[in-house]
Amino acid sequence: MAEGAGETGEERNQDVYSYRERVKCSPEEEARLERQHFWKVIDAFRYYRIHVQERVNRAERQFRYLPEHHQLLLPDFLPNLDKIRHCVDQNQEVLQAIVQNCVHMFENIQYGEDDDLRKVGPSSTFDMDKLKSTIKQFVRDWSEAGKAERDSCYKPLIEEIQRRFPQDQCDVSTVKVLVPGAGLGRLAWEITRLGYACQGNEWSFFMLFSSHFVLNRCDKENAMTLYPWVHQFSNNKRSSDQTRPIFFPDVNPQSLPPNSDFSMVAGDFLEVYTEPDTWDCVTTCFFIDTAHNVIDYVETIWNILKPGGVWINLGPLLYHFENMANELSIELSYEDIKAAMLRYGFQLEVEKESVLTTYTENDRSMLKYLYDCVFFVVRKPVDVFSNGIGTAMEGQFEEPAHSGNSNATT
Ligand SMILES: C[S@@+](CC[C@H](N)C(=O)[O-])C[C@H]1O[C@@H](n2cnc3c(N)ncnc32)[C@H](O)[C@@H]1O
Repeated sequence: MAEGAGETGEERNQDVYSYRERVKCSPEEEARLERQHFWKVIDAFRYYRIHVQERVNRAERQFRYLPEHHQLLLPDFLPNLDKIRHCVDQNQEVLQAIVQNCVHMFENIQYGEDDDLRKVGPSSTFDMDKLKSTIKQFVRDWSEAGKAERDSCYKPLIEEIQRRFPQDQCDVSTVKVLVPGAGLGRLAWEITRLGYACQGNEWSFFMLFSSHFVLNRCDKENAMTLYPWVHQFSNNKRSSDQTRPIFFPDVNPQSLPPNSDFSMVAGDFLEVYTEPDTWDCVTTCFFIDTAHNVIDYVETIWNILKPGGVWINLGPLLYHFENMANELSIELSYEDIKAAMLRYGFQLEVEKESVLTTYTENDRSMLKYLYDCVFFVVRKPVDVFSNGIGTAMEGQFEEPAHSGNSNATT
């Protein structure tokens, strides 16, 4: 596992188009890089307090530069900074708990032993930003405060699964659903709660450590506290908005029915899922734009879906690698992706081009982002020949893009 999006610019410069080069690494080198990355992410969790307190100290220094009569007009400023410091300390305690036991969290890989004396060096701003985003992901996935957002993003996907595989018409425990890019696992968990056999897949150690913690170590509703907005110094209407807590988990993650088939698998979606004709349903939420080349995702999903299986997607196209130097990034419009999916052989069954959602929104902020998402359902035909491509007379239809793919169902 590696996390291309988590590399610093300096590291990225060493390998042009790292995602293509990566497969050329020897397995030993791959394992070494992964170990190095694992510890880098653990260090980021441990460095958080120092990083954010430096920011708070800067705010204090700058305040103290003000003329005294200005300072006197703002008697609550320094006390609020103290509150922020307290929130950061509290966040650090949760982050510490998250990384406490993660050294042995993977059944099949050991990353070496933890050593408290190991010096934690400064983490990059990039990694600190990822950590802050991970903290906000707790709001989206596991807090009461995230319910409206989950309703707008996860509910349409879940309802579509229920429509396709109705509980009263099939044994849903045999319906295999895959959620690539599962984040902190709530969508996959909700699908499992309804009785489906669901697997989440995630690549980022930031997300994996955190989902492992919430899914395996938290069993009391709202027992944990985080301050996700404490890093936001702008666009606050009230000072207290910055220091307000959220509580998690809003449901007990251990409360899945007995015999539920739920798993989370670590690794790059493209590398882990190579077994053809395996899944009844692939559900992607805010995921497809994480690709270097989204057609790789189309191809993999085609390959791993059983004939007749469906891919349900909701999300925008905010390409993650767009502004990263030396990273391959193919930015396609939805129109182009749709055309490519159809050429591949998928049948479009549902399409909504305007589903308004948010992503880890701070509902009290004076700045909010609204995503105008695309929702679609496409099906891999039961018989590939039934979609018209395979039965075409030579020269009459375009050659299907996957015609040379030995994994394609024929
Ligand atoms: C924008 S987040 C969406 C998370 C979740 N689906 C949600 O809606 O909250 C995209 C997620 O995909 C993960 N991801 C990106 N590339 C991946 C890959 N190649 N394989 C697996 N996960 C990946 C990221 O780490 C991140 O957690």
